Amino acid sequence: MTEPPSFSEPSLFWQKLAEQHAADLDRYGLDTIKRHQALRYFTWRWSWSALRESRQMRFLLKHSPPGTIARCMREPADLSDQAWEGVEWSRRERWLYVFATRLLWEYARKHDSLNVLSLPEPELGSPLPVHWRGRLISQDLANTALEIRAIARALEGEQPHTIVEVGAGYGRTAYALLHAFPDATYTIVDIEPALAISKWYLEQLFPPDRLRFIRPELAESLPDLGTDLAVAVSSLHEMTSDQVAGYLDLFDRVATGGRVYLKQWQHWTNPEDGITLDFDEYPIPAGWRPLFDEPAPVQTNFRQAAWSIENRAGSATGARQT
Ligand SMILES: C[S@@+](CC[C@H](N)C(=O)[O-])C[C@H]1O[C@@H](n2cnc3c(N)ncnc32)[C@H](O)[C@@H]1O
Repeated sequence: MTEPPSFSEPSLFWQKLAEQHAADLDRYGLDTIKRHQALRYFTWRWSWSALRESRQMRFLLKHSPPGTIARCMREPADLSDQAWEGVEWSRRERWLYVFATRLLWEYARKHDSLNVLSLPEPELGSPLPVHWRGRLISQDLANTALEIRAIARALEGEQPHTIVEVGAGYGRTAYALLHAFPDATYTIVDIEPALAISKWYLEQLFPPDRLRFIRPELAESLPDLGTDLAVAVSSLHEMTSDQVAGYLDLFDRVATGGRVYLKQWQHWTNPEDGITLDFDEYPIPAGWRPLFDEPAPVQTNFRQAAWSIENRAGSATGARQT
């Protein structure tokens, strides 16, 4: 008899990627994670050759007034090798990155309901040198502001006290949520080396008693933490179907009565594991009440959706909405 597959085993896709991340860590250390690992988390590299097909750029240009586009283009940028140390991109690519980040920032500014963009981009991890409006800005902070806006909609005015995130990268979402909800504690479930990276990053920015870092195999036996918010951004689609089901069950178990926010590719083929996962096919537990389900802004081939989880008495744990 074979054991049922455990959701804690990384997918082949992530085993390979995690090896690359660990090799980068050996080579560059933690101090430059925003110039290396982050580019495989949620920091998008912009390339001239793929620009015509870029849905993100199309979205940003469509939602930016001509004057803003012109200003984002014209404002001088430091593209020197010194400022971009360790980033082997041409000056044209660096310029495009700066331009796209500024456009994204301007879009996010209009939708920043929780004032995430008033936070500084931490210098920790050597962010790419993009300046705008007299300050350091970043794609990660801008994208996070848009996600936090959606999360705030899901919370419907509630203040979460206990937050769980699966697959946190270096901790960009945690950074904004821990600021937005200063009474909250935050548990990250992740594989190595991301877990060590987010621990290194967040423990320098927040008191350790607000943070908890858990490996997936320990998450399987995590008790109900009274979690009021469970989050997964750009992580589930890269897993196997069993892992996705495992994490949704985990949320169902630890976040009874709370809210869940997911932002994942609408449709993604994981080449290493030979799996195609569609957002619509996620096995959503039966007791989850949909709050919204829509294309994500900017990354329009992602979907974002939120649910509230019924209290245990009213929920059929283990059953799915199919
Ligand atoms: C593309 S990154 C996204 C990171 C972050 N959510 C963000 O948006 O910046 C995917 C994340 O999922 C994590 N991950 C991969 N396999 C996992 C697993 N089996 N359990 C938990 N996390 C996993 C990776 O380590 C990484 O942190």
